[in-house]
Amino acid sequence: MESRFDGRIWIDLAAHILYNFGAMKWVYIEEIGAYPDQDVEVRGWVYNKRSSGKVRFILVRDGTGILQTTIFGTDESHPLFKKFDALTQETSLIVRGRVREDKRAPGGVELSLQDIEILQVAQDYPITPKEHSTPFLMEHRHLWLRSRKQHAVLQVRAEVIKAIRDFFDGRGFRLMDTPILTPSACEGTTTLFETQYFDQKAYLSQSGQLYNEATAMAFGKVYCFGPTFRAEKSKTRRHLIEFWMVEPEVAFALLEDTIELGEDLILFILERVLTRRKSDLEELERDAAPLEQVKKPFLRLTYEEALPKLQEKGSTIQWGDDFGAPEETIISDIYPSPVCITHFPAKIKAFYMQPDPERPDLALAVDFLASEGYGELIGGSQRIHDLDILEQRIKENNLPREAYQWYLDLRKYGTVPHSGFGLGVERTVAWISKIKHIRETIPFPRLLYRIYP
Ligand code: 4AD
Repeated sequence: MESRFDGRIWIDLAAHILYNFGAMKWVYIEEIGAYPDQDVEVRGWVYNKRSSGKVRFILVRDGTGILQTTIFGTDESHPLFKKFDALTQETSLIVRGRVREDKRAPGGVELSLQDIEILQVAQDYPITPKEHSTPFLMEHRHLWLRSRKQHAVLQVRAEVIKAIRDFFDGRGFRLMDTPILTPSACEGTTTLFETQYFDQKAYLSQSGQLYNEATAMAFGKVYCFGPTFRAEKSKTRRHLIEFWMVEPEVAFALLEDTIELGEDLILFILERVLTRRKSDLEELERDAAPLEQVKKPFLRLTYEEALPKLQEKGSTIQWGDDFGAPEETIISDIYPSPVCITHFPAKIKAFYMQPDPERPDLALAVDFLASEGYGELIGGSQRIHDLDILEQRIKENNLPREAYQWYLDLRKYGTVPHSGFGLGVERTVAWISKIKHIRETIPFPRLLYRIYP
């Protein structure tokens, strides 16, 4: 006679027994709400602890959230009390218990503890709830990342990056990685990081743009996304030495097309962060209202229209001067949405920018200035597609022609108008999170004279 049980049923039964009588299910705090009245295990670190009457509270963090766990009892010989007493901030542990819904608990649930397994008691964790100086926190950046506010900013960062990728991938852009070691400059020679490439000089990439222009001629619309490097000698709250930039490049696109793409990208990122990282923005005490009000089209102002507005507000800027941080702040404080400044004097912009056919002294360039005083988020332009003009600009900028030979080829073999831009991830995160200093928007910032940790 054939057995009533086939092999599969036996396996399922064995798994069922193991699950119910063996180890508890390990769950992450962000999903613990899905396990009401069930016994689970959480693996993490002690964020804080306190006693109140008959209850001992341990706040446990596991990277996805912070959970209130409780030990309830009056008997001082309770086996968990001894363990509770041994816990210090950042002690690593595994806690097991029953998930209980409790409206008073942060997140609406708490874990009623049955067991605490201590992995390591952390001694003298240096970042305590008291105030610490910024240099101290920067020295301890590897630990500072565990603090709530830092954690929230970096959650926003991860969401911004995910949104950027989804935006471009969803619009049929091809990701084309561009090199980090390069033989030539893209954004001026003063901020180049020089390094040795066997027996020749090389530079860390300031921008993937020039290579993007080549891949755009092969794939139509492309983007690169990676770290870029600028030896910026100025110490400001908006500049990093190493920062991440996403750069789209589109064959046949004109300046206005690239401005519209930038608007759509910013709105897409905002919408994503506002819906998916609401709790992190709350943790940062970021009032979402100004971000919710951002609408397209963004205001466009030419450089020459912006000048009198800046002068009215006390800037001493004259025609031909570049915008500095004070000018960017004035403009971005005037309007609730980002502002697009276009048609800059060609001499203050990069060599590859297309001159305005009606005013060749102006470049078809755009800078997007964020609202609330956050300065430039995006820099972009239409590129020179004419071989003679490009050769002339390379010469005027004293750039070595040999290094740009391949770039000039793009104008010899089927040249077309094309445009693109770069959006700085950290500036975007700083603006959305309303963080004063850009150093908190990247896990390990590289700053002027700081390369530790
Ligand atoms: O305006 P930038 O220099 O543009 C370029 O590099 C172009 N080649 C991009 C392109 O057209 N493909 O830089 C673009 C953006 C800025 O608007 C800013 O957000 C960010 O990159 N950025 C920095 N962010 C942090 N620290 C710095 N030192 C930055 N320099 C630029």
